[in-house]
Amino acid sequence: MTGEKRPVTLITGASSGIGAALAHEFAANGHDVVLVARREQALAALADAIAGKRARRPAVLPADLARAGATQAIAEALDRRGLEPDVVVNNAGFGLLGAADTLDRAEQLAMIDLNVRALTDLSLAFVDSLKRRKGGILNVASIAAFMPGPGMAVYYASKAYVLSFSEALYRELKPKGVRVTALCPGLVPTEFQARAGLAAEAFPRILTRSAEQVARDGYRGLKEGRRVDVPGFANSVATTLTRFAPHGLLLDLIDRQQRGRR
Ligand SMILES: NC(=O)c1ccc[n+]([C@@H]2O[C@H](COP(=O)([O-])OP(=O)(O)OC[C@H]3O[C@@H](n4cnc5c(N)ncnc54)[C@H](OP(=O)(O)O)[C@@H]3O)[C@@H](O)[C@H]2O)c1
Repeated sequence: MTGEKRPVTLITGASSGIGAALAHEFAANGHDVVLVARREQALAALADAIAGKRARRPAVLPADLARAGATQAIAEALDRRGLEPDVVVNNAGFGLLGAADTLDRAEQLAMIDLNVRALTDLSLAFVDSLKRRKGGILNVASIAAFMPGPGMAVYYASKAYVLSFSEALYRELKPKGVRVTALCPGLVPTEFQARAGLAAEAFPRILTRSAEQVARDGYRGLKEGRRVDVPGFANSVATTLTRFAPHGLLLDLIDRQQRGRR
């Protein structure tokens, strides 16, 4: 039965920003994509836009991934449509600016449910079809994954998890024919900033990439079987430097930077 299913690229957080750009990128490269996020109308508009470029119209699966049972519901919906992932793109995520003891606890736990729990569940749920189809997993982490982040503590920690988990999975799944890439963008102007409570800021151009540039890098990184992909030269240098910088200094620097963003 499963052999008759059609392979698709499952993309979470496709209703805006980097996820929408990734959906366009995968579709432009001939992948049939399935779009997941909470906002059904935005997903439907994206599906129309992709279909308008002569690609197959993406299936739209509205889901709140922070809720338990979301992965199961997605698996059943795919099954009903005769689809199975050959690529899973875990992009949905959000951050919150502020000291952890002052932010809402439930919201910070919901961040872990989405950025960590759902990402882990979706990375593992379709591993059989990923192996059969020699496919891959693209997990969106961040340059925040490389350092602790006072002022956004849970967000940085969640992305450190994504990086660590994805690198280990890369090693485990490589001999089984499945590629795993952790995509680690720096600053990307999207809805992320408003959701996180970041003041509108003038983005330093050298550290900023567009969602489209990041999507192109991520797609290429996965195709080339890269373990970690940091889009942009300056970001790549910055993440390398974090390995050598004393932790105390790094904590002070990031603390000061996040205070300036409120
Ligand atoms: N922008 C940056 O500077 C930056 C830098 C590094 C890493 N990143 C990472 O890149 C990823 C994409 O972020 P973005 O910048 O594109 O932000 P964005 O424009 O806010 O997009 C976030 C996406 O996640 C979806 N989402 C949020 N909560 C969800 C939930 N409970 N269930 C299902 N989907 C949910 C949103 O859709 P709905 O609201 O419709 O559910 C939206 O499609 C995130 O993992 C983020 O941490 C961003």
